[in-house]
Amino acid sequence: ATTPRDTAANQLLEYSRKHEDEEKTMTTSFGTPIPDKNASLTVGYHGPILLQDWILLDELSHFSRERIPERVVHAKGAGAFGYFEVTHDITHYTAATVFSEIGKKTPIAVRFSQVAGELGYPDTVRDLRGFAIKFYTEDGIWDLVGNNQPVFFVNDCINFPSFIHVMKRNPKTHLRPDYDMFWDMISLRPETTHTALILFSDRGIPASYRNMHGYGTNTFAFVNNHGKLVYCKFHYLTNQGILNLSSEEAQKIAGVDTDYHTRDLYNAIENGDYPSWNFYVQIMTPEQAAKSPYDPFDDSKVWLHADYPLIPVGRFVLNKNPKNYFAEVEQIGFDVAHLIPGIEPSPDRMLQGRLFNYGDTHRYRLGVNSLQLPVNSPFKVHSYTRDGRSTINSQGGTPNYHPNSFKGPENDRRAQALSPSLPLSGVAKRIDNGNDDNFTQARLLYQRVLKPDERSRLIQNIASWLKPTNSVLQDRAIVNFSKVDESLGQQIREELNSYVTHHVDL
Ligand code: HEM
Repeated sequence: ATTPRDTAANQLLEYSRKHEDEEKTMTTSFGTPIPDKNASLTVGYHGPILLQDWILLDELSHFSRERIPERVVHAKGAGAFGYFEVTHDITHYTAATVFSEIGKKTPIAVRFSQVAGELGYPDTVRDLRGFAIKFYTEDGIWDLVGNNQPVFFVNDCINFPSFIHVMKRNPKTHLRPDYDMFWDMISLRPETTHTALILFSDRGIPASYRNMHGYGTNTFAFVNNHGKLVYCKFHYLTNQGILNLSSEEAQKIAGVDTDYHTRDLYNAIENGDYPSWNFYVQIMTPEQAAKSPYDPFDDSKVWLHADYPLIPVGRFVLNKNPKNYFAEVEQIGFDVAHLIPGIEPSPDRMLQGRLFNYGDTHRYRLGVNSLQLPVNSPFKVHSYTRDGRSTINSQGGTPNYHPNSFKGPENDRRAQALSPSLPLSGVAKRIDNGNDDNFTQARLLYQRVLKPDERSRLIQNIASWLKPTNSVLQDRAIVNFSKVDESLGQQIREELNSYVTHHVDL
């Protein structure tokens, strides 16, 4: 009997079936015919290869340049394409054309990812998952670069690189996780507690990319046609239901199929089982923000749903796999600074740093003209930027300076009307925001949201990560968890008592 194969395993068979009647001959990358692909040009049977073998030179020199730098975070991922559809009217909040009328559809690309592992890392590790959406709108590209959790560990962008370092490899041993690095930073920065609880809960290992929610996480702003600004958060809730893996299941799968989530997404779409999510916003007026008991621009905190309910907006569906992974997923670049008229940043400190970092990394990872790659390209560009390595869209003879008298593109009146006037004043200062009540919301999550069995798995998961670190860091972490709930700290302590702990004075 033959073993049944999944759709992904049949990709090549499918290809050959579809192209059965085709006869293609081979060319070099510059399009010239190749007489024999399996033999280099040698002087006799044992003779050396001639430098004039341009077919070989083409092959080898391209091969040695096949890899580009992987993403510094979110390196391992999978992508798909589909559409976003408006189901509810929110034009009183935003003039963004993507939301302009019920029934309107906008093409999208989505990339799911893990945060800390490298390209090739197993999919089923305990980690946050990235959930980034690119909207190809008539007003240009809008990138909503979210995660599968509503909060993030740190809330000032200056702490992001250090936080990522502790999730990644130890610089000397090259091993990960390094439990000492991880718990040292987590316990020294108590604003990480809220997100750490989610990471160690069941949601820390989703069963698939299809079975998780997504969140814009950072706070953004909407501007409507009257120029009125409100703050907003984005939520996308899965229609497949939330499903997670236990730590044991996940470990087993990691040993058998490192690409478990990538395979699942590919097969579902290929088999016509298109995943979808409903899209919601939360809205907060500047007046409400001024009176909020928690900082609405602190991404380690949520906006309580009781105060700021989810407002339905639309849905999105993924119905197309990439034609080629490298071209359309490795080379896709999501940039938080890609905003469209009607959607603006907020003073969220993480968002502010992100506005710089993504474009910066694309210039390094993909080059200065990454926006001309088909997967990143907007429908229309009339800019004054020019040239640079690998320019494709040269914009012909259009004037390349502004102002000009020769029909070059002019300021967009609608975008002008939608640019908010922000009343800003203050004294420039470095103010650490890491100690703003880090426990009230974590407590609500622990005591009100998690069920007893979920709480006990959370405790097991935290304890199993705390076990390998030294007792000073364990004690410090437990102090923070006890501030969430006395019994949480106690139960973690009891779990740890059954292990022999490594102790070193720090
Ligand atoms: C990817 C920086 C916070 C979600 C990246 C990349 C960088 C970066 C440099 C690689 C981009 C690329 O090479 O294309 C930062 C900085 C942050 C931050 C500096 C904080 C100051 C966050 C937060 C979220 C997030 C809070 C979630 C809400 C993502 C996602 C990707 C990503 C989903 C992968 C995008 C893709 O699929 O290509 N981030 N990040 N990041 N980040 Fe962040």
